[in-house]
Amino acid sequence: MKAEFVHEFVRGNSERTLVLLHGTGGDERDLIPIGRALDPNASLLSPRGKVLENGMPRFFRRLSEGVFDIDDLKLRTTELADFVTAAAERYGIDGKRIVGVGYSNGANIAASVLLLRPEIFSAAILFRAMVPLIPETQPKISSAHVWIGAGKSDPIIPAAQTEQLAELLRKAGADVTLRWFSAGHELTPQDLSTAHEWLMSLR
Ligand code: MLT
Repeated sequence: MKAEFVHEFVRGNSERTLVLLHGTGGDERDLIPIGRALDPNASLLSPRGKVLENGMPRFFRRLSEGVFDIDDLKLRTTELADFVTAAAERYGIDGKRIVGVGYSNGANIAASVLLLRPEIFSAAILFRAMVPLIPETQPKISSAHVWIGAGKSDPIIPAAQTEQLAELLRKAGADVTLRWFSAGHELTPQDLSTAHEWLMSLR
């Protein structure tokens, strides 16, 4: 099946599922502890990106740092969205309670899923995300709650990119919370505890 991914699935004891999307060079095991820290009760679905860059898994091709292959990104976004839909059926999870959680490259594809396939995630947590693409038509993602965690001194993502992403998602109708941390591109314990509190406040 084309939309298949190597993945881990950990069944939880609530109706919520977190789709965990790792950064460049990560794999399906990377974010399992982070998923657990964000929500101790949720099911966790964690695919491994299928694009290899010098042997490092990613979720879509890039031409250089921060310059994306948009055709590949669109294709991979569809593939990932189809995988999540199929996995929801396979594992019998609630397709209306799926939260996308991504770090770096994983956050970028999660943002792309929000913009191109807005029916997939009811909420998303984006750690160190950029604008993945500008959609040709204005998406409608009015039911989604989105939390963005940005590093004030991130050497990879200029602050203006983060602001632009928040704006793009807001314009599409998402309820966006943007938090800045005294950090670079790396994930900090403050990111996790703040995102956890936010997630727990959602119903
Ligand atoms: C990307 O390629 O998605 C971003 O540059 C983040 C990264 O993976 O380094």
